[in-house]
Amino acid sequence: MERTRLIQIGFIVLLAICAAQAGWWLLDQVLDTRANRAAIEEHLLRDRQVARMLLDQGADPAEVEALFDELIFRPGGEVHIDPDHLAALHEQGRRRLSRYAWEGAFFLGVLLSGIVVLWRTLGEEALLRRRQQNFLAAVGHELKSPLASIRLAAETLKLRDPPAERRQKLLGRVLANLYRVEAMVRNLLDAARLDEGRLHLAPERVVLARAARNALTGAEDRLDAAGAELSVEVPEELEVLADPAAVETVIGNLVDNARKAVARAGGGRIEVRARRRGRRVEIEVRDEGVGFAPSLAPRLFDKFYRPGDEMRRSGEGSGLGLYIVRRLQRLAGGGIEAHSDGPGHGASFTAWWPAAGGQR
Ligand SMILES: Nc1ncnc2c1ncn2[C@@H]1O[C@H](COP(=O)(O)OP(=O)(O)OP(=O)(O)O)[C@@H](O)[C@H]1O
Ligand SMILES: [Mg+2]
Repeated sequence: MERTRLIQIGFIVLLAICAAQAGWWLLDQVLDTRANRAAIEEHLLRDRQVARMLLDQGADPAEVEALFDELIFRPGGEVHIDPDHLAALHEQGRRRLSRYAWEGAFFLGVLLSGIVVLWRTLGEEALLRRRQQNFLAAVGHELKSPLASIRLAAETLKLRDPPAERRQKLLGRVLANLYRVEAMVRNLLDAARLDEGRLHLAPERVVLARAARNALTGAEDRLDAAGAELSVEVPEELEVLADPAAVETVIGNLVDNARKAVARAGGGRIEVRARRRGRRVEIEVRDEGVGFAPSLAPRLFDKFYRPGDEMRRSGEGSGLGLYIVRRLQRLAGGGIEAHSDGPGHGASFTAWWPAAGGQR
């Protein structure tokens, strides 16, 4: 990686030198053409002087005229530079300058574009590298802390044989942490399959209310622990044309994000609402969580993107969920949008799919 970076920087420097040389060449040609033209004009003036001198000294006018074809000899000994000759000279200079300008501008343009493209590639690579490092830290963290918690609970169960009530609590913790690990692994696999084009969706009529129920099965404890109060209003008659597992993944991810946002805000409501809008059916997950700066909305769907300092981990998550959601929605011919009025004002995510033809 470092070697590629060095080569890229080397090329940028070379391109910059070439651009400077092309600029200098252009300037030099312009100055040279001007100097040439001035020298030729000076030459013509001198020719005129010499012709006059020869005529004054009594030379045969016909012979002098034959010597200087760029001069015009008028009766009475007047000598002028041929205006057509001067015009042709100017035209020639103008054409040369215009050719140099076009060619020079073209080369400069190509070189500068090369510099810009390389520069941007370098920037994008650096960003991706930072995000990947961050992602590895996230994966490590996401796996390490739930596994440690599961191990502790299992050891307590084995060594201490706690009373029934405590045992239930410990088992609850084990399950919650297993869910977290499972969700993480699922996201990783989904993202890998999507990137490799290996995820094949099989669209069919999906009852949205059923998909929502499936997506939320077993989430109660985690929602309770986050202080989240969930309300779901998805009319039974709404049907979408989509892959059922993908619809559940999308709803599950959006509600899970809402849960995390609400937990960070110390609790709040999460509302899931669905409605038909023209040929689409949309579902909105609105929460009273921490929200985000409105300008960040489009970036939340970038791979590995999590707002704030990319190198510092805060809260669970790897930044893959919304990336997967957006990819799935695009494949399904639907879409996803994020909205927040700003930090502290909650957030709302709306996903939509094509409505299945002819509602039940
Ligand atoms: N409802 C929300 N309210 C506030 N911020 C949100 C909300 N949903 C997502 N975000 C922000 O967008 C970021 C990216 O979300 P995404 O689902 O892609 O990743 P994650 O939830 O951090 O990790 P993962 O989903 O892979 O476990 C989150 O880290 C969070 O900062
Ligand atoms: Mg998420």
